[in-house]
Amino acid sequence: MAQRTDLLLPILKGQPVIPVLLIDKASDAVPLARALAAGGLPAIEITLRTPAALEAIRAVADEVPEAIVGAGTILNARQYDEAAKAGSRFIVSPGTTREIREAASGSDVPLLPAAITPSEIMTMREEGYTYLKFFPAEQAGGAAFLKALSSPLAGTFFCPTGGIGLGNAKTYLALPNVVCVGGSWVAPKELVEAGEWAKITALASEASKLSA
Ligand code: 3PG
Repeated sequence: MAQRTDLLLPILKGQPVIPVLLIDKASDAVPLARALAAGGLPAIEITLRTPAALEAIRAVADEVPEAIVGAGTILNARQYDEAAKAGSRFIVSPGTTREIREAASGSDVPLLPAAITPSEIMTMREEGYTYLKFFPAEQAGGAAFLKALSSPLAGTFFCPTGGIGLGNAKTYLALPNVVCVGGSWVAPKELVEAGEWAKITALASEASKLSA
């Protein structure tokens, strides 16, 4: 089954930056999601890299109607299912496997899978995926690499993440094959731990105004 772009695209096109979040304390999730939404970044990706992640997703889905919560770092079908059941509205994977694609085809929650090389990207095109994560963006060749793909692999669009911040986001956003970028810089660990929500709203606000 092809990628659910009907559900995914409004999310990816809705804001230039998708915050990538690592949440240690589930109780931080609701104020963090509210702070980011208040700054103009309602769509957030909560990574399944901490034991608190699923509870955090559930809390945001239940308590923050203005947020669009997604799950990141999904590595297998079980996590796909758990993240979907917790209320995720999109799923992000750092790579792609048959198991993940099969989980996506049996789910109403759309998948943004990742690919880097031309062969990986062509394989995903054959599977009906035209929107991909490009990870880890800076380490894998950065904006220059993505730009080089834009003509031969026209029609495939990327959300690069990994090593992106305020300083280089615009370079990516200016590319014809970039739909948005992802990054953790809008929710630094120290500000989350200190409950500095107004500062996070300010970072989100700055990021939400980024454009090519
Ligand atoms: C990730 O999955 O860790 C994201 O790519 C975020 O990377 P960053 O912390 O470099 O923004």
